[in-house]
Amino acid sequence: MSERITTSKLEAMKTAGEKFVMVTAYDATFARLVSEAGAECILVGDSLGMVLQGHDTTVPVSLEAMVYHTECVARARPHSLIVSDLPFMTYSSPDVALTASMELMQKGAQMVKLEGGTWLSETIHQLVQRGIPVCAHLGLTPQSVNVFGGYRVMGRTPKEAKSILADAVEIQDAGASIVLLECVPEDLAADISSKLDIPVIGIGAGAGTDAQVLVLHDLLGLTEKPAKFVENFMTNADTVQDAISAFVNAVKDGSYPQAQHTYR
Ligand code: KIV
Repeated sequence: MSERITTSKLEAMKTAGEKFVMVTAYDATFARLVSEAGAECILVGDSLGMVLQGHDTTVPVSLEAMVYHTECVARARPHSLIVSDLPFMTYSSPDVALTASMELMQKGAQMVKLEGGTWLSETIHQLVQRGIPVCAHLGLTPQSVNVFGGYRVMGRTPKEAKSILADAVEIQDAGASIVLLECVPEDLAADISSKLDIPVIGIGAGAGTDAQVLVLHDLLGLTEKPAKFVENFMTNADTVQDAISAFVNAVKDGSYPQAQHTYR
C-alpha cells in the first residue's frame, strides 16, 4: 500500500464493492505491522483499557491514555487511516467533544470514534463542521455496559432493530464518515450497509458489511474468553505479521467472517 488512506478512498471501496479492514493498534510497532499487512484503518480503540490496562470494561479509560496511545501509533507513520476512540464521558456535549477531539487530532488521529446514535447528531455535526471526521459506533456500545447489564447482541427485537437503523441514517445525515456496528444480527447489518452511502464496518455483525474490524489481541489468540465472532489467526501463522496479514486477506477474499462467527 503506497499512499495514505483517506475517507474518500474508503467510500470509493464501498462503491466498488471492495471490502476493507480495520485492526486495533496501540503502539508504534503494531501500527507498523498492521499498516504493512494492508489494513486500510487502524483503530486506537478504548479496548486498550481491557487488553493493555487489565480493566474489566472500557469505562475507566482516560483521554490522557487515548492521546498517549494515539501519539505512539502516529509515530509509525502508517499508511492506514488512524481512528481514535473518544473515551467515556468525553463527548457528553458538543463542546466537551470538540476539546477532546482536538487533542486526539493534534496527536495524529485522522478521525474520532464515539458510541451512540441519534442523541449525538448535534455533536457529530459540530465536529464535522470544524474539520473532525467522525466514526459512530452502534449496536453493542461497550461504554454503556453498565446500562445494558452486560455484553449482549443488540437489534434482535423489531423495536431495537428499527432504532439502530434510524440511528445509522441520522448519523449519516449529521455528517459521519463511517458507521461501526458491533454484535448485531447479520441481516440487520447487511440491511443498514445497503441503505447507507457511507461505509459500515462490522464486528460480530456478519459478512454483509463493507468492512470488518477485530481487536488485535483477539485475532492473535491472546484473549482468555474470546467472543463467538473472534477467529484466532495465529493458528496457521508462523509470525504475528503473518497472522495480521491472514486476517486482512480473509476479509478481502470473503473467507472471514463465516456462519459460526455470526449472530442471527
Ligand atoms: O475499542 C475498540 O477496540 C472497539 C472495537 C471493539 C471496535 O471499539
